[in-house]
Amino acid sequence: MGEIVRLQKYIAMCGVASRRGAEEIIAEGRVTVNGEKVTEMGVKIEIGADNVSVDGKPIKAKNKKYYIMLNKPVGYVSTAKDQFDRPTVTDLVKKDLADVRIFPVGRLDYDTEGLLLLTNDGDFTYKVTHPKFHVEKTYIATVKGGMTIHGMNKLRGGVRIDDGFKTSPAKAEILDAADGYTTVKITIHEGKNRQVRKMFEAVGAPVAHLKRISIGTVELGHLPLGRWRHLTSHEVNYLMNL
Ligand code: URA
Repeated sequence: MGEIVRLQKYIAMCGVASRRGAEEIIAEGRVTVNGEKVTEMGVKIEIGADNVSVDGKPIKAKNKKYYIMLNKPVGYVSTAKDQFDRPTVTDLVKKDLADVRIFPVGRLDYDTEGLLLLTNDGDFTYKVTHPKFHVEKTYIATVKGGMTIHGMNKLRGGVRIDDGFKTSPAKAEILDAADGYTTVKITIHEGKNRQVRKMFEAVGAPVAHLKRISIGTVELGHLPLGRWRHLTSHEVNYLMNL
């Protein structure tokens, strides 16, 4: 008898989507189990015995998992396919990994650069992106104008963005100030849409350039812009066990 798992976990194990993405795919009525459409959550399947299809195509659990770090340049979207046909982050790894379906772990904005993880392991994505795991992400933000002590303390204590949402306490330190710009290193553990930009906007300092340099203790280091590398097993284990 094969392992019994929830359908959304199985879809993630097959590298089709993250677990949360798989729930959406199920809710959209795109999944069949042994030919029967399934739209409710919680259905369990037996690996190797039940036949699961997405959009009519049978899917299979893959054994080989890929964990990749990319130094994302500005001008790429953090999705596998863009509705406006803009370049995607997967374009940057596709030529080397042609038949592996990997997807980004969370997002960086089109106009943000730096450390982006990609994987075909939905469980890994869940661990790194779910807010309950509080994974710290560090950014270097270059903002227009000066930063006051008051502004820095507001960032550290939490600021109101989006409909009154108050951000959690952050770490923030000024690295440099020159030619009308200030460079700030900031660490947050939430992942609201455009959160860092909105936090700086809330203290009157619009972001001119934003780069992510680390996720937990995993650092971008000297990886050149637009290039990728496999994570080490140490880095994968660290992120999986947070
Ligand atoms: N915060 C932002 O504002 N943008 C990103 O890309 C990531 C975090």
